[in-house]
Amino acid sequence: MKKNIVIANWKMNPQSAQEARRLFDTITKGIRRVKKTDVVICPPFVHLPDVKSVRHTQKVFLGSQDIFWEEKGAYTGEISSRMLQSFGVTHVIIGHSERRRWLGETDEMINNKIKTALKAGLVPILCVGEWVREIPGEIPDIVENQVRSALKGLKKGDFKNGIIAYEPVWAIGTGRPETPDNAAKAALFIRKIVRDILGKKTAEHIRVIYGGSVNAENAASFISKDIRGMEGILVGGASLRADDFIKIVKSV
Ligand code: PGA
Repeated sequence: MKKNIVIANWKMNPQSAQEARRLFDTITKGIRRVKKTDVVICPPFVHLPDVKSVRHTQKVFLGSQDIFWEEKGAYTGEISSRMLQSFGVTHVIIGHSERRRWLGETDEMINNKIKTALKAGLVPILCVGEWVREIPGEIPDIVENQVRSALKGLKKGDFKNGIIAYEPVWAIGTGRPETPDNAAKAALFIRKIVRDILGKKTAEHIRVIYGGSVNAENAASFISKDIRGMEGILVGGASLRADDFIKIVKSV
């Protein structure tokens, strides 16, 4: 059976290598006996070599917050899949709403990044979600469009190890999460779209997870008992507080 997964997105934090090491050290010590849940930590690129040196358990996967779609060359400021893999990165967040908003990432760029990650054997964590809450419990068309365009051109089976994070933007960093019931509905909806594009096998194999104001108190409520529901969470703010993040992983 698939394990649930907890992913930490540190975003542009912490500010020094020393703090990054300390945070990673405390978290990986705190969760080294956890067996039933996969854990991925995504620090900023520059902290990857530092945190790698204080990993207390190989069971914690390293992820990055982005990737570039070309493999090498004249792309100032960008990071390639091979560079990431040389630091032990196995997972990559793609299409986070903050990159869509502040860096102008388009659906086409996201689609290219997904293809590059898959080609390199990295696990893509595709982020989708609507900007504003319209009718509670109804998943707006934009989510379907984001999923369809991100997976465009993939062959059946290509994305079977992929992860899709449903992150309603209005819930990110606001302290106002989606309800677990509505999140579970979104998971079903996303799986249905994936089934339509890439077939039943892939739809059953991928993991759909929730992100947006997850904390130590509400984390476990997002994990569905039903295998078709949410199978993990993506945690921003609370992943920067070691105690909270350890509690989140243990509660899941
Ligand atoms: P948050 O962020 O947990 O701080 O709401 C989640 C995310 O952006 O992935």
